[in-house]
Amino acid sequence: MYKNLFITVDGIDGAGKSTHVDFIQRYLASKGINSITLREPGGSDFGEQIRNLLLHTEVKLHSITELLLMFASRQELLTQKIVPALNNAHSVICDRYIDASIAYQGYGREIDLVKIDKIISLLEPNLTPDLTFVFDVDLDVAQQRICSNKYKDRIERENQLFFKRVQNGYRTLAYNNPERIKLIDTNNSILDTQAKIIEYLDQLINLNKK
Ligand code: TMP
Repeated sequence: MYKNLFITVDGIDGAGKSTHVDFIQRYLASKGINSITLREPGGSDFGEQIRNLLLHTEVKLHSITELLLMFASRQELLTQKIVPALNNAHSVICDRYIDASIAYQGYGREIDLVKIDKIISLLEPNLTPDLTFVFDVDLDVAQQRICSNKYKDRIERENQLFFKRVQNGYRTLAYNNPERIKLIDTNNSILDTQAKIIEYLDQLINLNKK
């Protein structure tokens, strides 16, 4: 038996993280661990409405408005989905979480990190993931992947300097939280990436055997 796990997946746009969410879920299933996958912003009915506004509005948003909407979506996801799943024998794999707000709004939009910490403390519950994967890739590769999308959303349309700051944010977060955050370079082959994912998942699973 295992404790229900809360795993998050993050990284700059174009780092390829979404590909790995399915793999993580399948690997957990192969170990007898049921999980659900969720995404941020969004993942709950109300959160998806917020996501639509955040990614597709043509209005120029103040950076604090953007930050608060990310957290509004997150609170709904916690209340509606994450906490009920964890209390109901499911592990949770979330495509983005708090680290994204620190990297994108903190480092990318240059909002004071102390202000972001205050908002984090408002979350109920203020849940820290058991494990976070941050997928990292060269900015040029990330940009090529984004450009191959037919449509770029409001955040994907940001310039290279913005993404450089976001990437630096993720790397700093990983450096400061080595136990929880595992930085994985996705410039290598998908098999190399999956091998790393398995290594960290196995460590987590062994630590959480009941
Ligand atoms: P996605 O495309 O990976 O679903 O993420 C949506 C976008 O939202 C992506 O550009 C990152 C951004 N984002 C933030 O800026 N702050 C946040 O807190 C979250 C969760 C996402």
